[in-house]
Amino acid sequence: MEPLPATITAITAFLILYRALKARARRRTLHIKPNEERVLILGASSGLGRTLTKHYAQRGARVCAVARRKKQLDELAAECGDGCLAIASDFANASDMVNLRQKLVAEWGGLDTVHICAGVGAVQPVMQLAGPADETGIEHAAEIAKRAADVNFHGVLIATTALIPILKETSLAPAILLVSSVAAVVPAPTRALYAATKAASLLFFQSLAIEQPTIAFTSVLPATIEGNFRASAIDADPDQKAETNKKGLKLDYVARVCTDAVDGQRRGNIVVPWFPYAIAHHLYYLWPSLIERQARKKYDFTP
Ligand SMILES: *[C@@H]1O[C@H](CO)[C@@H](O)[C@H](O)[C@H]1NC(C)=O
Repeated sequence: MEPLPATITAITAFLILYRALKARARRRTLHIKPNEERVLILGASSGLGRTLTKHYAQRGARVCAVARRKKQLDELAAECGDGCLAIASDFANASDMVNLRQKLVAEWGGLDTVHICAGVGAVQPVMQLAGPADETGIEHAAEIAKRAADVNFHGVLIATTALIPILKETSLAPAILLVSSVAAVVPAPTRALYAATKAASLLFFQSLAIEQPTIAFTSVLPATIEGNFRASAIDADPDQKAETNKKGLKLDYVARVCTDAVDGQRRGNIVVPWFPYAIAHHLYYLWPSLIERQARKKYDFTP
């Protein structure tokens, strides 16, 4: 072989091997056995949180399911069996989160993993919320925005600040995963309040990660997931029949992305699917009108 191709081959082989060894060393399951992991799921009563709870229960972890709705939570706990703890609380309520932390210490002596799946949607165009844009209309829009921020931003702040101390004190390899959204990095019509509040918590989370290097922070940014986004929307028209979308990403698939990310101690953002959304995020800086046009088309939005 010529010297140059041989060198390139050697460097490539070295890089592949190096990455594989590094990924292996990063595997968290070497430090925490899957059946000894203590996992907290916030927003466990439906959708992704519910699916994640079942995945962890299946692999033998100790899993604590948290949501406000007690009925759905009890059904889930019954499905998940003995390893499953169900606690009805509000992740955006400081007193609830402090109580939860105390219960986890009492029950398990600590905590290794948190998945933040709780959140609310918003589905109306901004000017529709503001109506005729008189004082009342504007205040109404601001009120809806405040409710979205109370959950999607303040909830994340309250839950993370409450749980970071117990994670750091009691886990060999603490991890927090935030279920964010593609909407946090790519703008979309009818999703302004959702996108804005999701972007707020994403940047909060990323900055917190820099301040807390001993915890692995991961954000998963999925595109539309199967199920009913409208059901979680704070501004949905109650007269409009909620249709379940079956075309979205499969819950099992996104749940797998979340557990794999935590097991591999992945840091930073994971956009799902990477193509085209990670590209769209960057393309927006180069060619915003293209992204705007595509977004109107995707949402079937006529101004
Ligand atoms: C938090 O929850 C408690 C009950 O668990 C309730 O008394 C309190 O008002 C809530 N706080 C807020 C700010 O909603």
